[in-house]
Amino acid sequence: MRLSLSLNLVEIRYDFGMSKKLIKMAVFPVAGRGTRFLPVTKASPKEMLPIVDKPLIQYAVDEALSAGAETLVFITGSSKRAIEDHFDSDPELEATLQAQGKQELLDALHGILPSWASCVYIRQSAPLGLGHAVLCARPVVGEAPFMVHLADDLINAPVACLKQMAAIHAEYGGSVLGVQNVPKQDTDKYGIVTLEREVAPKLGKISHIVEKPKPEKAASTLAVVGRYVLSGSIFEDLAKIGKGAGGEIQLTDGIARLMQREPVYAFEFEGKRYDCGSKLGYLQATVEYALNHPRLGDEFAVYLKKFAATL
Ligand code: UTP
Repeated sequence: MRLSLSLNLVEIRYDFGMSKKLIKMAVFPVAGRGTRFLPVTKASPKEMLPIVDKPLIQYAVDEALSAGAETLVFITGSSKRAIEDHFDSDPELEATLQAQGKQELLDALHGILPSWASCVYIRQSAPLGLGHAVLCARPVVGEAPFMVHLADDLINAPVACLKQMAAIHAEYGGSVLGVQNVPKQDTDKYGIVTLEREVAPKLGKISHIVEKPKPEKAASTLAVVGRYVLSGSIFEDLAKIGKGAGGEIQLTDGIARLMQREPVYAFEFEGKRYDCGSKLGYLQATVEYALNHPRLGDEFAVYLKKFAATL
C-alpha cells in the first residue's frame, strides 16, 4: 500500500509494504496515577476516559496498529485492570448481544482488537516515572526499535501520527520524537528540544533535550508530545539513569544519553493534538470529536449552536 502526505515541502511516503524497517512493537505506559483527574481516576484508569464512545487507550491502540504494530505492550499499575478487560474477549456479553440480534454492537466489540494483534501486560511496581515505565518493557521488546504512545495525548491527523513517524524512521533510521511548538509559558510541562540542524522541512536532528525547563531557561519552545519511535539501545541508558525532574526516572534523560551515540530526530507531525491529561484539553477533544462523529455530529452541532446562543 502506498499513501503519501505532503507536509509543506517534505513529501513522506507510506510505503511499508516494501520497507525493511517495520516496527512491530508498541509500548503504552499507562501506570501513572492521573492525579489531575481525581476523584474519577481513584479506581478507574485515566486511559479509559471516553472520547464520545471509545476510551483514550482504544484511540492509542488504533493509531499504533495503523503504524504497523502487532505486539502491544501495556505498562500497567494499580487500578488499571479495566484496560486488560477492555482488550480481552467477553464471551458472555457477546452471547447476549448475539441472542438479541444486536449485530452492530457485536461488530463494535469485535473491532476493538484485530485477531493478529497480541497484548502483553507488564506491571510497573510503583509509578517511578515515564523512563522507568518504558524500561519495564525491555524483556518483551529486546533490542528492536519500538514505538511509545502516551494515550493522554490524543492526536487527530489525516495520517496517524505514529505512522508518519514510522515512515521517518524507515527513511532516516535513529530515533524519532513527535514534537510541537508550545507557548513559551508552558515549557515547564514538557521535554524541550534544541535542534543541531534541519534534516528536512519539519525534521531536525536534536542536539539537546531537557525535561520541563522553566520558560526563562528553555532553549526553544519545541516540545516532545506523547509519541516516540525509539532505538532498542535506549534501554541501556534507562537502566543507568537516576531520578531526574520531579524526583522521577525521566524518559527525557534516557534520550539525552542515547543521543551521545545515535541520532535522535524531532519531527513536527501533521495533526491536531489534545492534551487529554488536562481537564480542559479533554473537554475540547470531547466536543470536537463529537462534532466529527458520523452519527452524532450533525445533531450535536445543532445543540451546540443553540446552547452557545444562551451564553
Ligand atoms: P503524566 O505525567 O501525565 O502523569 O504521565 P500521570 O500520573 O498519568 O497524570 P497526573 O499528572 O498525575 O495527572 C505521562 C504518561 O506516562 C505514564 C502515564 O500513565 C502517562 O501515560 N506514566 C507516568 C507511567 O506509566 N508510569 C509512571 O511512573 C509515570
